[in-house]
Amino acid sequence: MDVKEAINRRQSVRAFSRRSLEREKLTAVLEAALRTPSWANTQPWEIYVAAGEALERVRAAYMGSFEQEEPRRSDIPRPEAWPPAMLKRMEELREARVKALEADLGGEAARADMMTLNREFFRAPAVIYLCMDRTLTPWSIFDIGMLAQSIMLAATEAGLGTIPAYNLVVYPDILHEELDIPEELSVIIGIAIGYQDEDHPQNRFRSKRRAASEAVRIREN
Ligand SMILES: Cc1cc2nc3c(=O)[nH]c(=O)nc-3n(C[C@H](O)[C@H](O)[C@H](O)COP(=O)(O)O)c2cc1C
Repeated sequence: MDVKEAINRRQSVRAFSRRSLEREKLTAVLEAALRTPSWANTQPWEIYVAAGEALERVRAAYMGSFEQEEPRRSDIPRPEAWPPAMLKRMEELREARVKALEADLGGEAARADMMTLNREFFRAPAVIYLCMDRTLTPWSIFDIGMLAQSIMLAATEAGLGTIPAYNLVVYPDILHEELDIPEELSVIIGIAIGYQDEDHPQNRFRSKRRAASEAVRIREN
């Protein structure tokens, strides 16, 4: 698979199959991704993977927090407001996802399925948490973002599905506790990884992109 194909083929997998994820495959993906560039080669990332019983503990603790409606927060603050053009694209995405699922499941069931899968960590067999020192700033989140895409592209080449999800990091205290993540680290993002459920309607959804003619400006004079 060439790079362009991997970029094009990667898409968020929101339903994983029960097939277990081979440890060697997971480590090969992470090893490949560690070639990601970073500011002055600082390599600010610390990577924690939750799998097996550790993941079940995190999942169960999250489920309890979701049910108690405990306020969600992440170590990285969300913007207070989004610029209108982005808000519009977020709304378009949500509508398109519900509409695509409605065709398979019906309105209420579609919404419920989206929520349940998010809460169940998309039934993934493993979640990769990307962390960095709390004293760092968005300057280094740039590096973490690149690492995330490297992981997802290497996973695509290995025949694995992924989804980067904010929802996976909304209760950071649980992650610190269950995965022994030191307090001096912030948890930036989680990436669920595994084999995708080929039959699940959620995985048939393909998100749109702006055309290059709209997003790119090349100035030559
Ligand atoms: C930082 C980040 C956080 C995300 N969080 C979630 C999430 O919590 N739940 C979810 O269903 N998708 C989440 N996504 C997936 C995006 O919705 C998805 O990447 C976007 O719609 C583009 O679709 P694609 O990944 O299929 O190309 C997240 C993506 C990123 C980059």
